[in-house]
Amino acid sequence: MTPPPDQCPAHAQSPLAGVVDLFGSENEKDPMGLYERLRTEHGPVAPVRLGDDVPAWLLLGYRENLEVARTPSRFSRDSRYWSAWAEGRIPDDSPLLPVVGWQPMCTFADGDEHERLRAALTDSMNRVDRRGIRRHITRFTHRLVNEFCAEGQAELVTGFAQRLPMLVLTQVLGMPDEYGPRLVEATRDLMKGSDTALRSDRYVTDTLRHLVERKRAEPGEDLASWLLGHPSELTEEEVVQHLRLVLLTGNETTTNLMANTLRMVLTDPRFRASLAGGHMTLPDVIEHVLWNEPPLTVVPGRWATGDTELGGRRIKAGDMLLLGLAAGNVDPAIRPDLGAPMYGNRSHLSFSGGPHECPGQDIGRAIADTAIDTLLLRLPDLRLDVPETELNWVASWISRHLVALPVAFMPRRPATDPVDTSGLLPAPRTRPARAVLADDEEALPVDEAATAAMPPPARVPWWTALWRWLRGTAS
Ligand code: HEM
Repeated sequence: MTPPPDQCPAHAQSPLAGVVDLFGSENEKDPMGLYERLRTEHGPVAPVRLGDDVPAWLLLGYRENLEVARTPSRFSRDSRYWSAWAEGRIPDDSPLLPVVGWQPMCTFADGDEHERLRAALTDSMNRVDRRGIRRHITRFTHRLVNEFCAEGQAELVTGFAQRLPMLVLTQVLGMPDEYGPRLVEATRDLMKGSDTALRSDRYVTDTLRHLVERKRAEPGEDLASWLLGHPSELTEEEVVQHLRLVLLTGNETTTNLMANTLRMVLTDPRFRASLAGGHMTLPDVIEHVLWNEPPLTVVPGRWATGDTELGGRRIKAGDMLLLGLAAGNVDPAIRPDLGAPMYGNRSHLSFSGGPHECPGQDIGRAIADTAIDTLLLRLPDLRLDVPETELNWVASWISRHLVALPVAFMPRRPATDPVDTSGLLPAPRTRPARAVLADDEEALPVDEAATAAMPPPARVPWWTALWRWLRGTAS
């Protein structure tokens, strides 16, 4: 029997059997459809369960999501408020614990402690050189494209979107290049929760511990060194745990953003039209995806610090609330017409809000934007290699992933290190080179036919190299 609508299932007399299970098959098959059903049946705040006996409130309303994210005094990020946990109803082997079990990290802190840890993270992230990160993104994109460009076909989820963010993030952290590929494998294994997940987690943490020891002895211009030297005086263990947080959160989310953006670039005629002078640019597509297909559909969680009211519901102290970012983004109360373009509008919930709002959003956007821009420059004839209707997604309770994105294009020879660290423009282009160029550089209109080949690498300014190459005097 479904509990009365204004009563959290945790406090209802009836069992949770009639309450929707977010671990269940309906959510796996069609989470957006499920959210709409729950919205119709329950309004902006719906009772749900996670597995057989863990109750929670799922926030479907845009305003309710923001209210919870922005009011830590009523809705804490500290999972030790959780009544189910305090009452011993969560077993030690619960699959929820890796995600919501309290850890000494900024994600689970509020108030002064959160400010101390968060300041170290945001100050250090703000020091990341925007030009430098674009060079890493471009360099790794070329490296990955080189692996498949001679084939004339590729699968862009496993071959590109799942690999690039981690390669870039290892550079931001201050790791040598060769760490990237093994960390990609280890973090993917860890997130899948496979039998070897614990071993993979240990590998990631040990690698970060060695990195922190090395950076303590020899600081560099990187996130690990800046965290160690920050006035918040993080312990070495806190630095390790926050680097791990950056790697895991940043990698998974940016991978999803890239895959969903690539899918839209390849299938939505509005983007192709923009190449011929329309209006939907790559940053527009990214924002559109953030509105309609957010990398995290649900963020667990917040915990009520006392009895309160939300969206017409009575919430009890210690209840768990799940931010429904995907549902809130399409709430009819703020988007009565889902077809209306949202270009330039960044007020979606995909990076959450309030004191825990994602501090890495600019880095995530830069990776997706620069990488996809560079990929399209290398392979301008890129096209989907299966009918769009054959694309598949897999959903968990917190995210929804595209399984594969098979593409085809004209085979091309691999480029020999097409972009060096001087920031050389990798290939000519006919549309504004927004992402690859630094803010103070200007894009040049060039010949479309030339995009199939690469200009030679050279340690000269990119505009000189491009000019020489166009004139046939590249050597
Ligand atoms: C573009 C894809 C990304 C999306 C959609 C995304 C989304 C989010 C969301 C929804 C949260 C949870 C906020 C909350 O609890 O209310 C979060 C937190 C966080 N994200 Fe991101 N993120 C992205 C990329 C990144 C990147 C690239 C980094 C690091 C370089 C990063 C670092 C973090 C950190 C450290 C937190 C915890 C912040 C805190 O609790 O104070 N994220 N992110």
